[in-house]
Formats: sequence, structure tokens, C-alpha cells
Amino acid sequence: MYDAIRPLLFKLDPETAHNVTFSLARCAQTTPGALAMLRSKYQFDKPSLRTNLLGLDFANPLGIAAGLDKNGHAIGLLSALGFGFLEVGSVTNLARSGNQRPRLFRLEPDRGLINRMGLNNEGPKAAKQNIQKLRKKALTSSKQPIIVGVNIAKTHDPEILGDKGVEDMLECFKKMSDCADFVVLNVSCPNTAEGKTFEDPEGITPLLEAVCSERKKLNPKQPLLVKFSPDSSPFTLEKTIEVCESFAVSGYVLVNTSNDRSGLRTNGGTIEKIGKGGLSGKPIHERAVERVRFVYKLLGGSKPIIGLGGVDSADSAYDFIRAGASLVELYTGLIYQGPKLCQEILSGLADKLELDGFASVAEAVGTEHR
Ligand SMILES: Cc1cc2nc3c(=O)[nH]c(=O)nc-3n(C[C@H](O)[C@H](O)[C@H](O)COP(=O)(O)O)c2cc1C
Repeated sequence: MYDAIRPLLFKLDPETAHNVTFSLARCAQTTPGALAMLRSKYQFDKPSLRTNLLGLDFANPLGIAAGLDKNGHAIGLLSALGFGFLEVGSVTNLARSGNQRPRLFRLEPDRGLINRMGLNNEGPKAAKQNIQKLRKKALTSSKQPIIVGVNIAKTHDPEILGDKGVEDMLECFKKMSDCADFVVLNVSCPNTAEGKTFEDPEGITPLLEAVCSERKKLNPKQPLLVKFSPDSSPFTLEKTIEVCESFAVSGYVLVNTSNDRSGLRTNGGTIEKIGKGGLSGKPIHERAVERVRFVYKLLGGSKPIIGLGGVDSADSAYDFIRAGASLVELYTGLIYQGPKLCQEILSGLADKLELDGFASVAEAVGTEHR
């Protein structure tokens, strides 16, 4: 079905195509029987894929990355397609419409996207209402409710900087924490002038001081993860992670989109015309896996890692697992390959685990290092 409509969707401007698809998703969620039909067509359940991590039971290790469902409108549909979890967001303390359009571009020869959405979202109240309304009905293949993480970022506003930036993220954390199975601090958005203000040891320290002390009061057991970009130097990443470790952060999400344009097939003129934005999809895959490898090694495999960047097949998902990720997410792959991708990846992963003699995903995590 998606193969048939993809050429039509790809004739539309990418953001319009996204909005059309989302409207259809919302229709499916309110049409009696539609989600059950999708579930029976797309879901894939295998005991070897069930993953217990961060104190949570995931039906499988494949999730939807932040940015696809910024406001939690499509939780029902995404669970029906077979995903084990999703990250709603980025949610920011103040609702924002983001950067001017056009702000999303396809790089078809590279199977990539460039976006400079600029953290557009409807704010905490709307996201929370959607999550509370939709998650109960959103069942995974093993009939358990889908795991919903909330990704939060600083409001896109150059006036909100320094202490005000910390206060802004803290407010968002307070508002969203009680509807999230886990929280991700997005400190690596490349699409706002001040989006990466926390992505170094000095920047992240006051943020973690504030958020972790609030977390102690609200819900000390709630997993708190930090999402990094693939672009910072290994030295900065290592030092920033040292700070995160001193605050006993629960895990890491690696990686966000990249500003690096090296090695692209799309011609240079087109890339130049597109201008600024974060690159995602196949072109960042190798670098993303490298980051997972680096952090897994750095921490001796002691902390959960969610790996993402260019996942579009069981092979690319398995790359992350072998390098040290316990869970894997995707966004761009779904745009190019459509809803059957989740089932294809899960059944391919189950086969790979069996072939390599692993009874579970957990057994395969980090095997590249042994
Ligand atoms: C259009 C678009 C919007 C995104 N918005 C967010 C966001 O709001 N917050 C965030 O943490 N990551 C965001 N991302 C980054 C993705 O979560 C992911 O880290 C990145 O795209 C790499 O994964 P992929 O190659 O599977 O797309 C966005 C990505 C895209 C393509």
C-alpha cells in the first residue's frame, strides 16, 4: 500500500506529506476496527525480542525517534505498526511554531533528510493530554501498553539562555514527568541558534543539578537519559558524559541529526541551496554506530544506550546492538520505506539472533567488543 502511495507523497513538499500522513493516522485511530486491522497485519512478536531495560518491559527493542510524533498524536497508530516504544517530542516548555517553511528536505539519492524544523510543538499541556488519552489503547504485539518516553528540549527562543534556559527545561520536566515512562533531555538540537547550549560539561552541569534534584522529589526511579549529537568531539563527549555519570543519569540516546555534509551523493548545488539543518538517515549511520561504540567502551557497557541514525533494515539495527545499544530507534527510514519497515526489521533481527545463537537481544548487546 505505502509502495503505491509513496510516489504521490514524494511529489508533495516533505512537510506537507508528513502532515497528510499524520492526518490519515489520526483518522485510523478514531475509525472502529482500523487499529486492530493494522495490528494483525503489522505486528511481530517473538520472545527473543522482549527486552527489559531501565526497569521497563519493552515488547521489542525498536522504537520511534523523537521528532516524528512531536505532540503524541499518533501513539495508537505507531503501536499498531509494531513499535515497542516511542519518544514523543521534543516538547518544550512554551509551545512554538518553529522555523519558517520550507524546513524539511529529502535527499533521495542518499536516503536522507535535512531538517531545520526548529522545535515546533504544541507545548506540554497538549502533549500530556494526547499521551494520557492514547496510550491506554495503544497495545503492542504482546498486548502490553506501548512504552512512551518524553523528549524535552529548551524552548526555541534566543532570549531564554543561561539560568533562564535551565529554568525553562526544568519547568517542562515538571509538567511532563508524570506521563512519561522515561524522559530524554535533548541537549543536541542543531536547529536553533542556541539549541546546543547544554552540550558540554559546563553547560550540562546546572541543567542536571536542577533536573536531577526535581526528579528526586517527583519520581526518583524514573529513567532519565541524555541525547547527544554525532558532531561534538570525542573529548567533549567524554567530558560531558563524565558529568552525566556524576549525576547518575540512567542512559544515553545516540545520536541526533548532524551538521556534517561529507560523503553525500546528492549534488553539492542542491545541498548548498537547502542550507542549514540537521542531516538524518543513511548518511549518518556509520558515524552514529561509531558514537555508540565509543560510549559503550567508555562506560564498559554499564549504562543503557538507545542507538539511532540511519536504521532502515535489520542489518543496520543489528549494527547498533552489536556496538552496544540495547534499544534502537528510527525516523528517516520510515519515510523512505513505510509502515512495513518495523515488521521487516523485527523479523530480520529475530532471525539474526537465532543464527548467532542468542536467546535475547540483551545477549547480543556489545558483542562486537568481546
Ligand atoms: C524532521 C525531523 C525532526 C526531528 N525532530 C527532533 C526533535 O524534536 N527532537 C529530537 O531529539 N530529535 C529530533 N529529530 C532527530 C531524530 O530523533 C533522530 O535523532 C535523527 O533523525 C536520526 O535518526 P534517523 O536517521 O533514523 O532519522 C528529528 C529528525 C527529523 C528528521
